[in-house]
Amino acid sequence: MSYRFLVTCATGDIGTELCLHLARKGHHLILTGRDSEKLIELRKKIIGEFPQIEIECFSADLGKPVTMTDMIARANTLGIDGIVLMPPRPPLMPKDAAEQFETLNNAMRDCLTGPRYLLQKLIPGMEKSDLKSVILISGTSSKQAIAHPEWEAFNEVRTAWVGCLKSFSDQYGPAGIRFNTVSPGQVLTPTYVKKVEHESKTLTKQYEEVLKEKSATASLKRLASIQGVVKTIYFFLKSKGANEITANNVHIDGGTIRPYY
Ligand SMILES: NC(=O)c1ccc[n+]([C@@H]2O[C@H](COP(=O)([O-])OP(=O)(O)OC[C@H]3O[C@@H](n4cnc5c(N)ncnc54)[C@H](OP(=O)(O)O)[C@@H]3O)[C@@H](O)[C@H]2O)c1
Repeated sequence: MSYRFLVTCATGDIGTELCLHLARKGHHLILTGRDSEKLIELRKKIIGEFPQIEIECFSADLGKPVTMTDMIARANTLGIDGIVLMPPRPPLMPKDAAEQFETLNNAMRDCLTGPRYLLQKLIPGMEKSDLKSVILISGTSSKQAIAHPEWEAFNEVRTAWVGCLKSFSDQYGPAGIRFNTVSPGQVLTPTYVKKVEHESKTLTKQYEEVLKEKSATASLKRLASIQGVVKTIYFFLKSKGANEITANNVHIDGGTIRPYY
């Protein structure tokens, strides 16, 4: 069965692989990111491989509700079956308290209240669907705080989402809408692979050796693969097997963190 999904931050590493996977499975797409050139490129890439897929692209900034108006109107007119809400990556925290105030306020707007606004405005568009599934892409700091002051905004944004989606699950659950979170640890994205390659050159070590060191604390001794992340998202988004799962948060990190909840 073919569905229509809306994906935010679609042009990033995870977004691109996810959109290709959704198209491969025969689903139509509404895609958003800020940079319209990147959206055009992504659309071209998907249509090149899967010409039968309907794709609409909207350039919007998740921190600026006014930029989302056309996309919200179109999604609600067409009707959507599910949403993969990928908020932008939170910023690193500066040292100065006044700068932290600004940084955290902006982070909350761009990564929490802006995407939350979009999610709320898209809910009427799912009314007629028999799927009604929302996946938030978070990170393992939604389960275990990162112990570094520079990464504090990750801890704060992501734990705020935990509360928000529990509330939304109660509020919209009676209408059949499910809200689940997928929280990757470090993913072997093309960007990260390049970073590790660079690091291995600098340290004059083998790429595999550096990667082994980075996954040393994981039970499985490996990091999350991009396909592993995409397929997990797809399972919770679309599979009938996940039909009764809501308000959950699953982490994908090869067993690097092992929280009890
Ligand atoms: N990669 C990992 O290992 C990893 C691990 C855990 C969690 N995550 C989370 O997964 C998500 C995606 O990660 P990624 O590595 O795929 O990211 P990425 O490659 O850096 O891509 C970032 C995406 O976010 C969009 N974006 C940034 N700011 C935006 C804004 N204000 N409004 C709208 N779109 C905005 C970018 O579009 P433009 O270029 O047009 O701005 C781009 O599509 C992030 O939330 C990240 O924190 C990633």
